Amino acid sequence: MKVTAQAPINIALIKYWGKKDDVQMTPYNDSLSVTLDTFHTTTTLMPHPDHIFELRINHQTATEAETLKAYAFLTQFESFLKQPAILIDSHNTVYKAAGLASSASAFAALAKAADQYYQTNHDLQTLAAITRQGSGSACRSLLGGLVRWQQDGLIKNIEANTDQWVMVFVLIDTSEKTISSRQAMKHTVETSSLFDTWVHSATHHLDDALKHLKQNNFFAFGQTIENNALLMHEVMRAANPPVDYFTDQTKRVLHLVKQLRTIDDVPVFASVDAGPNVKILTKQAHVNTLIKKCRSMGLTTVVTNITKQGAKTL
Ligand code: PMV
Repeated sequence: MKVTAQAPINIALIKYWGKKDDVQMTPYNDSLSVTLDTFHTTTTLMPHPDHIFELRINHQTATEAETLKAYAFLTQFESFLKQPAILIDSHNTVYKAAGLASSASAFAALAKAADQYYQTNHDLQTLAAITRQGSGSACRSLLGGLVRWQQDGLIKNIEANTDQWVMVFVLIDTSEKTISSRQAMKHTVETSSLFDTWVHSATHHLDDALKHLKQNNFFAFGQTIENNALLMHEVMRAANPPVDYFTDQTKRVLHLVKQLRTIDDVPVFASVDAGPNVKILTKQAHVNTLIKKCRSMGLTTVVTNITKQGAKTL
């Protein structure tokens, strides 16, 4: 038997940064994401012809660490333990571990494929609990559109008018990050003097964001999400020793976004995850202006749209 599943990445607009429960993998604060097309993972599970366990990523045998992580993840499926000689053939259209949410699409696709392969037919919330054992934020990739991941672990769609929304990725550095989000997050929880402020503020940011969505106020929504992302990085910088994912280029792009908004009145709002790349939320009508500006600064951009579909079996 052979099963293939595909999952898109998701980018948090209100971020999750900190696990309250390391076993259940539940967060300190609720987060809100958009699921995006363009970048996704397609994963096929099949019996291994050589009777071994192997993970292949983009036609190459994965590293030992990646293989062990996938193995540990699959132990959540009882039937896997009885017959672990499988081949996982995974393809990413996204750069790995560069703060571009590759682990989100990878684990959502793997969970979905395994659910079909082992015929467990888990309900959505059970599958979400399994998926977040790979990476917390991955559970949000099981759904399309706008997704809220709650402190109790549940995921749900948020209805809002996102028709013209576009997210432009500014690719500054697509190499693997030196400190994983898992490590950086734990370190921030344990040592950042601003961590309590983060949990408190992020909770307010989410309330505000939901209110702005209800009122269809894109500008206020955008400002809230940018504030949230910038605060998350402040909180990391207040850790001991500090964690700083920004490079000079990140700062240049953030400056550009601010300029476009305040001087040229273009509704563009920045978000940054565990890496130097910047994601800019805007509307279709402003994409060309934004891309032209980025090009004039020698920056590479990728335009992504919000997808209605989360992880699916192919
Ligand atoms: O789920 P992880 O461990 O990859 O952490 C994700 C952390 C952020 O991308 C920075 C924020 C988020 O909510 O996705």
